[in-house]
Amino acid sequence: MNNPNSSEENRGQWGSKLGFIMAASGSAVGLGNIWRFPYVTGENGGAAFVVVYLACVLFIGLPLMWCELALGRASGRNPVGAFRETGGGIPFILTGVLCLAACFFVLTYYGVIAGWTISYAISQVSQTSLVFKEYTADPVYVLPVFALFIVLTIVIVRAGVEKGIEKWSKILMPLLFVLMLAVIIRGVTLPGAGAGLEYYLKPDFSKIDGTVVLKALGQAFFSLSVGWGLMITYGSYMSKKQNIVSNGFWVGLADTSVALLAGLMIFPAVFAMGMNPDSGPGLAFTTLPAVFAAMPAGWVIGTIFFLLLSVAAVTSSISMLEVPVSYFVDEKKSRRTTCAVTVGVVAFVVGIPSALSNGGNEWLSNIELFGQKGFFSILDQVFGTLALIIISLMLSIYAGWVWKPKNVIAEIEQGCPWFTKPLIGGISPAAIWSVFVKFICPIVISLVLFSKLGLFDREKLPVEPVPKEQKSPEDNASSPTQ
Ligand code: PFF
Repeated sequence: MNNPNSSEENRGQWGSKLGFIMAASGSAVGLGNIWRFPYVTGENGGAAFVVVYLACVLFIGLPLMWCELALGRASGRNPVGAFRETGGGIPFILTGVLCLAACFFVLTYYGVIAGWTISYAISQVSQTSLVFKEYTADPVYVLPVFALFIVLTIVIVRAGVEKGIEKWSKILMPLLFVLMLAVIIRGVTLPGAGAGLEYYLKPDFSKIDGTVVLKALGQAFFSLSVGWGLMITYGSYMSKKQNIVSNGFWVGLADTSVALLAGLMIFPAVFAMGMNPDSGPGLAFTTLPAVFAAMPAGWVIGTIFFLLLSVAAVTSSISMLEVPVSYFVDEKKSRRTTCAVTVGVVAFVVGIPSALSNGGNEWLSNIELFGQKGFFSILDQVFGTLALIIISLMLSIYAGWVWKPKNVIAEIEQGCPWFTKPLIGGISPAAIWSVFVKFICPIVISLVLFSKLGLFDREKLPVEPVPKEQKSPEDNASSPTQ
């Protein structure tokens, strides 16, 4: 990006196509792929979940990513400004506000997990082993690395991203890829790994229910960085010459490949070591060190791996911080530095309960709400899943029915002239995309949301009667282990 730190008049622009793809992939590829995807898959039935996840990425995530990018580029604004400038009323402006809230609140716990990755890198280099449950329960260890991570995020957002993130992502992301391949090779050759491959690759479709689809859709939005207003913000830094469709496609492909590889890295090892795939957020942190220990010079690979994971987390967290910062810079004419520092420090303070909710504080660890146990899991359910789904629903209604597909298409067509040409059986990609954004996305997202909110529970009653005071089967189905 050129001059993201300069005056408000010059909001900055990506230097090149590669610059955008690297920064947007840097945002998309993060803890969501390597830490969250495997444990959510493990809690929701393995391969069947993966199939639903892929469908969500392709048919819902990608069309909406193009919408976000077009909305951002057309308006040249942050999420709130983008809905307002293109004629959105109060409900859509509130959707923009929800984007800021989702980015902010997820940052508060994302930083905690990113802090864990720093500690794990240190433990690998010093060849000491960390007992996950004991480590995460100890504020003396968890809080300083969380603070360190937030400081790192602030420093980068404050300084601008072009020389740091754009440049380093190009080197570090491919390196992460190569290291993942090395870990996969070790994992799948461990005795007993076959059961893990089967669990991960052989779908049992009877495992699919409303909760699984909700989790898959939520995970797709989480991982692609769609439904956060992030792609609106990054689209606003995109020149009219850039191709929204192919750029979005590359970002989606990079993101999905890393997630799928992460599953291949984790599940064979989980089964080989007799662990439980359903063991929640600790899954990657308990499995991987065991795989590294089983490799020659494993601590070197382990150290580099966790360092790269921290880097992947930073390239994501800076983009999370960038969304509220771009709002304050655009709308309140605040200085970038002041915003980055203020929002970052407040995120640290608000993140302390999450840091303490993995055993550090009994009440925070055991509080139950929305079928989730623990403060951190509740935040993840509310902001890291439900908010993203609501935002994406509003976005599809906005693009499909309020701002109208013709405006989105006119924006996408600049830089992608073939979008409106009849390519597939005489039908243009734009026409197919319109059907998705007008009908398929809002209907599927609404169904998933309503099913989660219990609207279809009546139909289940004759099959599975539950006494009134008990939780619904769906609530019980969602992770008790988180
Ligand atoms: N997509 C990131 C991940 O999978 O870790 C999370 C994320 C980062 C979402 C930044 C949104 C965002 F703005």
